[in-house]
Parts: sequence; structure tokens; C-alpha cells
Amino acid sequence: APPAVINPSVLSADFAKLGQECIDTIARGADWLHLDVMDGHFVPNMTFGAPVVAKIRPHVDRPKAAKGKGTFDCHMMVAEPNKWVRDFQKAGCDLYCFHYEAAVTSTAADNPAEHSEARTNPKEMIRFIHEQGMLAGIAIKPETGVDVLWDILDGQAKEEVPDMVLVMTVHPGFGGQKFMASELPKVTALRKKYPDLYIEVDGGLGEGTIDQAADAGANVIVAGSAVFGAKDPTAVITALRESVEK
Ligand code: DX5
Ligand code: ZN
Repeated sequence: APPAVINPSVLSADFAKLGQECIDTIARGADWLHLDVMDGHFVPNMTFGAPVVAKIRPHVDRPKAAKGKGTFDCHMMVAEPNKWVRDFQKAGCDLYCFHYEAAVTSTAADNPAEHSEARTNPKEMIRFIHEQGMLAGIAIKPETGVDVLWDILDGQAKEEVPDMVLVMTVHPGFGGQKFMASELPKVTALRKKYPDLYIEVDGGLGEGTIDQAADAGANVIVAGSAVFGAKDPTAVITALRESVEK
């Protein structure tokens, strides 16, 4: 099974001192940083884009290997993920994770001239992300069945196969929501078919819910409010890791 990856979401950090929050979180034992990008269209909330990612990149050492410590995992909750691939690569993103639902609905026809690299399906998105030198992730919302992923994960062209799948365990848009255990059968089904796949869970993860997610087979654990809201974030990061590794 792939290693445990503890991946705090800076959505719950103090944005007024974001650089220091990132430095501290890595020093407290986090493996990756999860950066929630929201555009007010795909989800009913807005956060930040590539310029902010570029400003925090110099504060956190680039990962020495693919998926290594300091990986910037950009969770793109945006309606047109094809638009931002180049900008995020330049900003220092290591793993560009787009939503399946956005990739199948964003069409080149929306913006034919302006975005000639517009990608209209998940496999082309993954290939495009890989061409830019990043790892590729694909996310599914609670409304989306895991079955849509089989064809993508079983693809023959390895440039079109994702490096990670993100199973949302809340409706995307906000931190601090209640964990949806109803989503865990998706993780179980993925882990059964793909023993080495990086499977990320995001939403409502903390000491009270981690065991269920780990038992289902998740190895990449996003936690926002549980880490940044804690009196002792180091202890929470350690506890999450122990639950995944046990
Ligand atoms: C929700 C975001 C999450 C969020 C998780 O739309 O994708 O990454 O930060 O926050 P918690 O861990 O508080 O549920
Ligand atoms: Zn997220």
C-alpha cells in the first residue's frame, strides 16, 4: 500500500500570515500542503489563485521526489480547470487535481480563441497536466459515482492515467463540514482494484473520522479545521499518521 500522506488544508489557516502558517505546518510533520482553489462558479465560495500559490512557494522547499515532502497539492474547485494548468505550473504547483465534473462539462466552445489548449475530457486534461510536468489528480464530488473513473484508471496510455484520485467526503466549498461516511465505499472499491493508487479523502477528517477512512484504504489525508483549529496541531498530525499507518 502507498505511504501515509498527511496533507493539511490551508483553507483553515490564517490567510493574513499564510507563508508562516505553511512553514509551521511542514515543520510540525505535515507531508504535503493542500491548497483549495475556488472560483465562485464550481462551488459557492472563492479563495485564491495562482498568484497566492506563487507567493507561498518560496517558503516551502520543493519536493525532492515526485509526491515527496513539500508537495503542493492544488485542489481545483473551478469550472474550467483547463484554463489554469499553465499558471499553476509556473506558480509552483506539483500536483494539479481537477474535478471530473468540471472536465466533462467545460467545452472548448466556451472560449475558442482565448484558450486554445482548452481540454474537454478528463483523459486529455491528465495528459495536458503531465505535459506541463505536474502530477495529475482527479476528484469526484459526493454526487458522482466512482464508476466514472474505471475507464480513466484503466487507460492504456500512461500519460492519461492520474497519479491520484480524490474522493470528496463533504460537498466541496467550505471547511469545517461534517464527514460523509457514505462516500467511503468509493474508497474501498478503488483500493480493491488499485493497491498502489494514491487515494485522497477530503472533508471532515480528524481524529474522530480518520479510522474509517484509513480502514477503507485512503492514504492521502486532507485535514483543515482539525489541524489549524487544534491547540496542538503537531499532535493531530501525528495521530492522523498513526491511524493510517496502523
Ligand atoms: C472543502 C475543501 C477542503 C476543506 C476541508 O471544499 O476541499 O479541503 O478545506 O476542510 P475540513 O478538513 O475542515 O473539512
Ligand atoms: Zn480540498
